[in-house]
Amino acid sequence: MIWLGIESSCDETACAVLQDEPLKVLSNPLYSQIDEHALYGGVVPEIAARAHLQKIVPVAEAAVKEAGIKLSDIEAIAYTTGPGLMGPLLVGASFAKGLARDLQIPAYGMNHLEGHLAAAWLSNPEIEPPFLTLTVSGGHTELVMEEPGFKYTSIGRTRDDAAGEAFDKCGKLLGLKYPAGATISRLGANGNRKFVDFPRALRGHDNCEFSFSGLKTSVLRFTETHDPEYIQKNLGDICASLEDAIVDSLVTKTINALKITKMKTLVVGGGVSANAWLRTRLQDYCGKHGIKFCIPDRSLSTDNGAMIAAAAIRRKRQNLLTSVEVVKPWMPLAL
Ligand code: KG4
Ligand code: ZN
Repeated sequence: MIWLGIESSCDETACAVLQDEPLKVLSNPLYSQIDEHALYGGVVPEIAARAHLQKIVPVAEAAVKEAGIKLSDIEAIAYTTGPGLMGPLLVGASFAKGLARDLQIPAYGMNHLEGHLAAAWLSNPEIEPPFLTLTVSGGHTELVMEEPGFKYTSIGRTRDDAAGEAFDKCGKLLGLKYPAGATISRLGANGNRKFVDFPRALRGHDNCEFSFSGLKTSVLRFTETHDPEYIQKNLGDICASLEDAIVDSLVTKTINALKITKMKTLVVGGGVSANAWLRTRLQDYCGKHGIKFCIPDRSLSTDNGAMIAAAAIRRKRQNLLTSVEVVKPWMPLAL
């Protein structure tokens, strides 16, 4: 079966073509709107919606072309229904439903976070729940137990900012462009992680909650109490210390959750899962403790269309594909 995956929840217009047996990503192009938002230091929902509208058709055409198929070969569509920005989601949903109606095929609304975890499943299709999941993106930071039948239990989440948000906002304070996560990681790659002792919130607690707002304040104080030349000269070490503070919190709480739940598999997803230091630290712990570690290929960590189609395929294999929308020609296009 040939699937078209559509992701438009934030600032990437992404489409992908996947075949489900054998499981294979045939194409996965995207248009990143980063440059359109950079001027404002974050995503502007209206600009995002407009850019999705302009790019969704060319990106879908590119997905079909790169996969070497015809549009009529697509047998099902999976698109993101949320969480995400309302305008951008609406563009993806309208396009998905319009195309499904035209091709007379089903369109399935998928959860974006389930998509991020499905990106890890694409590299490890043999894993079976129960397992512990860690979702770390620009909008979410949460530890969730997944049991058979897509039953989810939250073990702990952030009390304030998400990990990606912490990277982006602290980066902005340091004068870095949005989104700053990958830049901080690159600048800090050879830096001294102990250069600044940034706070690790809720450190002494055995719980699985996160908090990053204090770190943001601490970076703000740091920029207020050190002159710009000093910050520029030591940017590599500051970035390394900042990255270590965020990653340390993520790893400590994930280890707590693994101990509490006694899970033997850890599945990680979301944009921050591209972070090399986080991958190394979690891999190390899991390797030493006999825990299977599943994380997306780095190219599939941040938002993309393949993860949305993968989420649908994963559900279909368990006969739990819900939110079916076989759009009939006579049906109004209700969203
Ligand atoms: O999953 P994603 O693409 O979008 C959301 O669903 O939010 O995640 C984007 C987030 C941004 O905050 C970005 O700074 C962060 O992921 N990110 C990284 C890295 N690559 C992307 N953070 C740390 N290290 C990276 N290499
Ligand atoms: Zn995402």
